[in-house]
Amino acid sequence: FIRCQSTNTEDKTKRTLLDNASNLLTNLLSGGSLGSMPIAEGAVSDLFDRPLFFSLYDWFIEHGSVYKLAFGPKAFVVVSDPLVARHILRENAFSYDKGVLADILEPIMGKGLIPADISTWKQRRRVIAPGFHALYLETMVKVFTNCSERTMLKLENLLEERRLTGQETVELDLEAEFSNLALDIIGLGVFNYDFGSVTKESPVIQAVYGTLFEAEHRSTFYIPYWKVPLARWVVPRQRKFHNDLKVINDCLDGLIKNAKETREETDVEKLQQRDYVNLKDASLLRFLVDMRGADVDDRQLRDDLMTMLIAGHETTAAVLTWAIFLLAQHPAKMKKAQAEIDSVLSQEEITFESVKKLEYLRLIVVEVLRLYPQPPLLIRRSLTSDQLPGGYNGDKNGYNLPAGTDVFISVYNLHRSPYFWDKPDEFEPERFLVQKQSEVEGWAGFDPSRSPGALYPNEIISDFAFLPFGGGPRKCVGDQFALMESTVALAMLLQKFDVELRGSPDSVELVTGATMHTKNGLWCKVKKRSNVH
Ligand code: HEM
Repeated sequence: FIRCQSTNTEDKTKRTLLDNASNLLTNLLSGGSLGSMPIAEGAVSDLFDRPLFFSLYDWFIEHGSVYKLAFGPKAFVVVSDPLVARHILRENAFSYDKGVLADILEPIMGKGLIPADISTWKQRRRVIAPGFHALYLETMVKVFTNCSERTMLKLENLLEERRLTGQETVELDLEAEFSNLALDIIGLGVFNYDFGSVTKESPVIQAVYGTLFEAEHRSTFYIPYWKVPLARWVVPRQRKFHNDLKVINDCLDGLIKNAKETREETDVEKLQQRDYVNLKDASLLRFLVDMRGADVDDRQLRDDLMTMLIAGHETTAAVLTWAIFLLAQHPAKMKKAQAEIDSVLSQEEITFESVKKLEYLRLIVVEVLRLYPQPPLLIRRSLTSDQLPGGYNGDKNGYNLPAGTDVFISVYNLHRSPYFWDKPDEFEPERFLVQKQSEVEGWAGFDPSRSPGALYPNEIISDFAFLPFGGGPRKCVGDQFALMESTVALAMLLQKFDVELRGSPDSVELVTGATMHTKNGLWCKVKKRSNVH
């Protein structure tokens, strides 16, 4: 288990001891079965002062796109290469499971899609993926607008209060607002439950945040002490975690019971005839329960819902957070987006059709995901031995990976790779419009025509250089949901408000658990737009 979060509390002696132990292990492991793979000789102390993926980036530049990182009792293979990522995620996907990630998430998500073993995954993916059909997504745009409207109303009310005291701006933590918004959307979209978190507090909302907090804690703590017998009764935070889980599970069980009692059996053809947009309950749960032949026990259904609740909440909130962080530093791009929004939306409500017309805003969303991928690392463990390709700058013969090897695919490194992107650290949404010839053998280059009809650039267009939702069979099922949700929420915010950061960009510290978020919130100054066209 690796600590990804920044902390300054470790003392120097401990660091030196850890470094020595790490170097020793690195040397011991260097003659191992990974053959000629370069070895990162980074000190473990590198991991203490900043998020892990920053160090992984430095070692990538130093050692190349596939290297071995050894520290503590374990060695990891770090991949920052589209060819190797494509091999692991798509070509040989079923030779890998989720490894460390599944260990952490299984107590929360059970046999939900993310941690699921391959045979459970195959059954459930076949049932869940069709739930994100075109009519569902179109209907969801209404959910996105209704929920975003509540956030906008809240901002307007706050501004009105300020106006009465002669002020034009309000200062608030937009990350917290986006988190509430994303929670409301995922609740309604996935199981037709209105958390109402934009406007109120409730035990269920607190339990969801408590669970997310614990998931993050587990992904950043060295020793899995929660596996120790009795820990769940003895350690207060573990007791709280299990209480939180119970609150959410009881809520989900109630929703499942209700959905089953009101089941209306259907099949794909009948579904097409449903007046989806006007359905009272168009949620994914409704689909999963109603679809003929998709009978499943309640426990599995609950695991599926819990997985989507966790997977679809913080990730989208993070996209919105970093979008505002970047746009606030690029006022010209913010204005360009606002001009587009004004011309597309004028007075009418956002619909699926208008999302299609918001081209620049869609590019902004994907550019945000390029710079701030959520999660920054994809985690795998090889189930059998595998022959990896060498990658574009590795050993031409490739590398033999023994069974049981832990692999990190660094999406962050791929997305900021100087070998595949011009000015990789710059916020340049227009870059996705440019076709790029490949100078790398085996990489097909960047070509939007490779994925005709795709609303948003994806891993196919970039031949696995751009992987915001992973790729291959275990690619995110909620990608289009999340992209449209982000586009709608941003459009509605920028249509009405101008946003600035309250402090300097450097004061916004970044920390990571499963996603990248800020340490103390994204504090912004928000005011009504004056130059609406
Ligand atoms: C998987 C990213 C939103 C549900 C994934 C994966 C990534 C990802 C990278 C692949 C993980 C891996 O290969 O190890 C994101 C991002 C989102 C987002 C960046 C928002 C911007 C959502 C939403 C939902 C969702 C809204 C559901 C409504 C899932 C599920 C999986 C998954 C169920 C597991 C798929 C499988 O293994 O078959 N997501 N996700 N995600 N995501 Fe998302």
